[in-house]
Formats: sequence, structure tokens, C-alpha cells
Amino acid sequence: MNFNFTDDMASFECTRVSRDLYFPLCNETGMMSSITPYLHGDSKTSNKSFILPPVTIEDLHNTRSPRNFWFYIKGKGLWSATGNSLPQALRELEGKSIERKVKAGLLWHLVEYTDKAFGLKSEILSFVPSDNNYVEIMYVKVKNIGNEKLDFIPTSAIQLYGRSAENIRDHRHVISLVNRVKEIDEGVILKPLIIFDERGHTPNTLEYYVLGFEDNGDKPVEKLPLLHSFIGKNGTLEWPEALLKGESLSKFKQERTDGQEVIGALRFKDFTLSPQEEKAFIILIGIKEENEDIFSIINKYNSKEKVLTSLEENKKFWQKRANLIEFKSELPLFDGVMKWINIQPVLRKIYGCSFLPHHDYGKGGRGWRDLWQDCLSLILQNPDDVRDILINNFAGVRIDGSNATIIGKNKGEFIADRNNIPRIWMDHGTWPFLTTKLYIDQTGDTKILFEKQSYFRDGIICRATRKDVNWTDKYGLNHKDKNGKIYFSTILEHILVQHLSSFFNVGEHNIMKLEGADWNDGIDKAKDRGESVAFTALYGYNLKQMAELLREISEEYKEIEMFEEIFILLDTLNGKPDYDNISYKNNLLEKYFESIYPEISGKTRKLSLLELAKDLEAKANWIYEHLKKNEWVKVDNETAFFNGYYNNDGKRVDGIFKDEDLKDGVRMCLTGQVFTLMGGIVKDKEAKSVYNAAKKYLKESHGGYKLNTPLGKDNQLNFGRLYAFAYGEKENGATFSHMVVMFMNALYKQGLIEEGFEVFNSIYNLCIGENADIYPGIPEYFTPEGKGMYHYLTGSASWFILTLLTEIYGVKGKLGGLVIEPKLSREFFGNKDSISIGLNFSNKRLEVVFVIEKEKNFYNSIKDVYINDFKMPEQFINEYFYLPFEKLNCYLTKEKNNIKVILV
Ligand code: G1P
Repeated sequence: MNFNFTDDMASFECTRVSRDLYFPLCNETGMMSSITPYLHGDSKTSNKSFILPPVTIEDLHNTRSPRNFWFYIKGKGLWSATGNSLPQALRELEGKSIERKVKAGLLWHLVEYTDKAFGLKSEILSFVPSDNNYVEIMYVKVKNIGNEKLDFIPTSAIQLYGRSAENIRDHRHVISLVNRVKEIDEGVILKPLIIFDERGHTPNTLEYYVLGFEDNGDKPVEKLPLLHSFIGKNGTLEWPEALLKGESLSKFKQERTDGQEVIGALRFKDFTLSPQEEKAFIILIGIKEENEDIFSIINKYNSKEKVLTSLEENKKFWQKRANLIEFKSELPLFDGVMKWINIQPVLRKIYGCSFLPHHDYGKGGRGWRDLWQDCLSLILQNPDDVRDILINNFAGVRIDGSNATIIGKNKGEFIADRNNIPRIWMDHGTWPFLTTKLYIDQTGDTKILFEKQSYFRDGIICRATRKDVNWTDKYGLNHKDKNGKIYFSTILEHILVQHLSSFFNVGEHNIMKLEGADWNDGIDKAKDRGESVAFTALYGYNLKQMAELLREISEEYKEIEMFEEIFILLDTLNGKPDYDNISYKNNLLEKYFESIYPEISGKTRKLSLLELAKDLEAKANWIYEHLKKNEWVKVDNETAFFNGYYNNDGKRVDGIFKDEDLKDGVRMCLTGQVFTLMGGIVKDKEAKSVYNAAKKYLKESHGGYKLNTPLGKDNQLNFGRLYAFAYGEKENGATFSHMVVMFMNALYKQGLIEEGFEVFNSIYNLCIGENADIYPGIPEYFTPEGKGMYHYLTGSASWFILTLLTEIYGVKGKLGGLVIEPKLSREFFGNKDSISIGLNFSNKRLEVVFVIEKEKNFYNSIKDVYINDFKMPEQFINEYFYLPFEKLNCYLTKEKNNIKVILV
């Protein structure tokens, strides 16, 4: 284990630190920092506004941390409270008399650094207040742990960068020429005159600052704002010349300050510490608009008391987030780890995929898939907040079933794709329905399906196979009808368009085309002939669920009004379709495309929900049968799996290839199994044989499940960039948490409880294992050595919470009614006979306690349910406990309700 929890609020201690162990510090306003045990990392509010120099994972290995605090000790010399000085770093590496420990919690980070040789200890606490300021606070404490009195000269050293990440080597020097620096009593302010951007320079209104105080609020006594004056000609940030002799900073001051690199070097009053005495300083690192008053920031945090109050508020804020779902079990470290996983989707909402050290791609923002996926856990935590987000997100759907991929900062803002090579990810159409379905089940709000939204329109048409050269910005970003009116229609219709257009868009094996890629972004080189069996299965499963949902709500809503052209794709209404015929499908899709551009007619027609359900079901059934008949690979009676893909040569990717150096000649991927299982394309014994195959061919020796076996020589750049990744890394054969978690979800859905638990356990143990080398949480993937990679920002967190809550603890909604259908393995209970979960449901708090009476391997049948001590009538317990929506208020009478579930 890499950490130990120290309280029941998921605070932890970590003594096996490494240089690239990063931790997030942020707030919902958009201040985003990362910090390591060596105080490395950066701080920014967007790709254009980095306060500290931007870092990627590799930068963390150097000792040049942008956050430092120095003490010149009379008679002893210079000492860094962060340990980032040349001599200290060397001593630390040699293991000489230095100890470093991290203590952290929701969301604060404290480095404890003890240097016995120097007789000093520092504690550096860092956090970003949860208010609406863009500031990171560093609270630096130094303690004399030796036997003699020591005299100190304290100086902070925070390197201010103040520009876009792109400029780290693009015009690095030129841009320092636009810098203007201002000293105020409390610190240093950097204001670049312009935002340097050769596509169009603009005036800059942002100010970057470093402010400092003693713990009693006293201000610094001297400042040295220029980096080069501070480090000197031959010095470095790890051994700055201006501090080497404890001299006054004025000696190093330069007259000309314009156009230079900047540092927040703030000198505080000298002081003396007797043995065991300590002293603290406050450093504020931040950014603000020039017209914002710096004094409101100064006055908010300029004393120890104020900083500690802000810390408490910050802790409360994140603890509330982490406790929205309160998982409790007897598995090792589980309760604490789950609190961290609970906040991961919130972190991803804040950081996008661009702003932690592993996440150096993109310029901020999330992708389409992530947009929907992150909503899953938000729905489970607080669905009320999500309704608007969902409706807004649907504005990104194009009427050809594809979607905008460039997502703006504001709600529902999507941007035209001006790439010359636009891409379609063929899985994109599946996620909105999955998320909306969860929302409807948790809340009973079926009305959302009939809320109106526009369709996105840009120059990319016919699922990016063609370009509309006549489309201009002036035309606008919405699909219109022939009268020039923006067409608005139901969310349900948007979902239908996504599925119908995909259903007909098949390749030469009558499987949906892979297009630019699917969930696996690395499969990006099979645009012409590639096909995705995996996601054909998910579209099929969605169609099935949609049909079921439509039947359930048909009494209430009866019918739906849709644009006339969509009826081309509802072909069962017009006769007997020929789904085995690929040209039939492609031609129909083509006919549809021809009908919707440049505008739709504007005519609409109504259709009964029952008729619509029938059409969707016919399509789903066809997919189910087709996949089972054509893509099922049987190894032996106990072992079988689905082929997942066709590559750009039209060849099958998975199967049995005896001539290859593979176990039993089997090439197999997990994705192909996950969605076929989730949808129940195979069940019972056959479903078990899929699990057997995964265990045999994909199980990693350290425990996890690999995304794929080696791809074989036929799958290279005719399949995707992923083939070039070292096998076992990222999208090529790593234990990729997201897919493993969806695999366990699928197994639980099929009632394979022991198998599901085995998968759960294997990934959970990796997360808490020593080799993972991460703080508590679930990372994106594990290397073959079991190291956790790309920690914090991953869609697997949402799916992990979803699976635990709705499958394992089994507390979920069904059209707003409450279902309790646990699938709990014995291990969750340890030596105890009860475990619990706390959650919000229907605007009430539920505390559900599961009690076991007998010894069993797993528990999935309910004997009795008590709500607030009232024994529930038998009629509510059949295969599972179900309290319909209209009965909720009769039994869930309190704000906080206790539900006791007796399991047999
Ligand atoms: C990441 C992306 C996700 C993509 C996956 C596989 O996964 O965010 O959209 O499907 O890689 O390429 P994550 O880190 O979310 O688990």
C-alpha cells in the first residue's frame, strides 16, 4: 500500500513518495494546480493563462520546482524548506538524514520535510480555497528541531510564468519582453502588456501575482522581482546567487524591470528560533483581472487565522462532495478510497483532459464522450443539477446522427469543426441515451424526452463523408428547415437520429462502420473498411432498451411528432426491410442524407410510441442475431468470445490464428465482450464462457484485465496508432480501468456475481497496491508492472461508482421508483454482519443497511426490508425490492430515511 488513511474523512499519509506523484488542488471557479511531494507541478486557469510554468509528467523529475521557500541560517548557510536545493537534493538522494512525507486530504496537501543534519523541519501546506478566487495558498512552517538557537533570513521564491502553455518554447524570450512588473508592499504583480499570439495579438487584462505575509499578517520587507537578478549569472533556481550569503536583496536590484522573466522573491524580517520553536509564512500565488481589487484578496488570507478558516471551508466543501454517496464495507481501505473516487468526476469536470501532469493533451475542455460519461456520477449524486446539462448537451447532435466534437466553455455551446480531416467517433451516438436513461430511472422525469432542442449544423455533413462548401458562419450553427427556421425537436428524436443513422451505416460485414474510431481512440486508421462489432452491440442494446422504455411510457405520452425525413429510416413502417442486404442499408442512409441537406422540409408527422418501439425492436433483434451468428468465436465448450473489429483491409481482428505466437492462437479484446455481454447477446452458460475466455487470454499476471491480446502482424497502421504503443501500455493491451470496470458491470448485469466480484477485486487491489504508486483513487490504466497511470481524470471513476451503487449494492431507480437488488459478495462484510450505503434519492437521504444472517459466498436475495423500522409489506419484494414512484412518499417519510435490508 502506498498510503494509510489517518481519519474517517479520507485524509491519508504517504511515506513512499516519488517525484512524479502528483496531487490536484483546484476549485470550481477554475483555479487548477498540481503539486508533488517536491512542490513541483504548475498552476493555471486555462491553457492561455499559466501562473506557474506548465509541466508535463517528465518535468516533475527535475529539482527545479517553481515553488520554493528559502532560509539563510546564520553560521550554517542556505536551506530550502522544500528540499529543492542542490546540496539538499543530493543528500536526500543519498539517503542522508532527510525524511519526506506527504499528508493529504480532501483537497489539501502537506509536505513534511525533516532534515536532521541541519536540525530543521518544514511543513508546507498547500490548497486552493473553494471560494471564487483564483489563488493557491502555501502555508510554510519551519521548526528548529536541533539543540541550538538559530537565526533565520526568510525568502520565498515562486517563479511566475504568466502566459500560454504553447509559449514554453514558442517565443519564450520574446514574450518576456511584453512583461511589466509591479511591486506592492505585499508582493509582486506581473502584467504582460499583450497576449502574444501571432494569429492576432490582443491587449492583456490579467495580472499574475505572488503575495506574502508572516503568520501574524506582517508584510515582506524586501522584494526581488526579476528571475535573473535572483539566480545570478551562474546560479540556478536550486542555488540562487542572491541568497547564498544572506545579503540584503537590494544589492541585487536592477533598475530596468520591464521585459524580463519574473519571480516572487519576497524577503521577510529576520527571526530567531530556540529549539522546538516554529514560525510560519503565507504565500499567495494567483491570477486576477486588472480591474479586480488585489486588496480583497490580501484581506481575505493575510493571517494564520484567515488561512486556517479558509482551509476548513475548503475541507468542508470537498468532504460534502465526497460524501454524496457514502460507501461503507469491510474491504481494506474501501470507505476512504471511495470518497476519492467520488470526487474524480468532479475533478474531470474542472480539469477537462488537459491540466494534470499526465494530461498534456488538448487545450482544455472535455470530449463528447466524457461530457456524457461524467454526468453518470453527477446523476447518481444529485440529478437535479444535471437536467439542464443533459438538454444542453443534445444541442451538439447533428441531424445525420453524428455530433459536434469541439465543445465550447458555456453550457450547450458547440463549435464548428474547421479541421480538414474531420473525424467521427462511431460510438458517440451511444452515450447520450445511456446517460439520459439513467437520469430518467433515477428521477422518473420522463418529460425530459419531450423537451425541445435544436440540432447542430456546420459544414461537415453525411457523417463527415462530405463537406458542404456553401455552409458559412453566417448560416449559423443550427439545422434549419426550408423556410429558414431553426428546427427544434424532442430529445427523444435526437436519440433516435443517433441510433437510426448508425444502424444503416454498415461496412462489408454488415457491422457498423468504425469511421474515425470508437471508444478506443487509438483505433484510428481503419476509416475505409473498419467495422466495430463492439459498438454495434451497444447500439443494439440501446435500441432494445429504448423500445422497452417507449412501451413503458406509451400510456402517458401516446405519440411523438418528428420531422418527416426521419421516417425514411423507420423502414419497418413501410414494409419488410432487408437488413441482411448491405446495399439496402447503405442506400437507405444515402436517401436520408439527400433528404436532410441543405435543409429539411419542415414537415412533421406523428407516430405512436408503440409503433416506434416495434421498429426499434426489429432492428435490435436483427443486430443480436447477426452478431451471435457471425461474430461468435468458440474455442471449446467452456470458452468463447466475440470478435471485436474488422480492420482497414476488411479482415477480422480477433479470432483464432493458429499460425501466430499467441496462447491457443487466440487474439481477443475486452471491448468486444463488454457490450455484447451488457446487452445480453449471450447469457447464462455462454456468458460464463466469455468470462472464461477473458480470464484465460486477457487476465494480467498482476491481476488486472488487459484491453487486448497482442494484435498480431495483420493489425498495424491498417488498424490504428495503438499498434505502435508498446504492448501493455494505454490503449494497446494495458489494464485500462474504464473497460475493466464496464466489463465488471456487464458481468453483474448478467447475474455473474462471483465473476463480477473477481474482476472488481482484481482492479481494486491494483488501485490500492504498492506498485500502483498513486494516491487513493482509480487511474486511467495500469502498466504491465501495475503502475497506475493518468491518475484522477478518467471516465472509469463514474463507471466504478455506477457499478458499485446500482449493481453491487444494487440501490437504483426504475422510472423514479426505488429498486434494491444487491449482488454483494461475502468479502464486502469481512467479520461483520452488516454494511451500508448512504445516498440521495428523490430529494431525500437514504441510509441503506444490508444485514446478513447466514454464511454464503454472495447475497442477492432479500428476506425483509424495513423502512424507518416499518416492515415493508411482502408485495414490494419479489425478485428484488421495488417501491414504485407513486409510493415513495408514503414510506420515505423523513428527510433522512433508514432502510434495513435483511439478506438471505
Ligand atoms: C480516455 C478518454 C475516453 C476514451 C478512452 C480510450 O479514457 O477520456 O474518452 O474512450 O481514453 O481511448 P478515460 O481516461 O476517460 O478512462
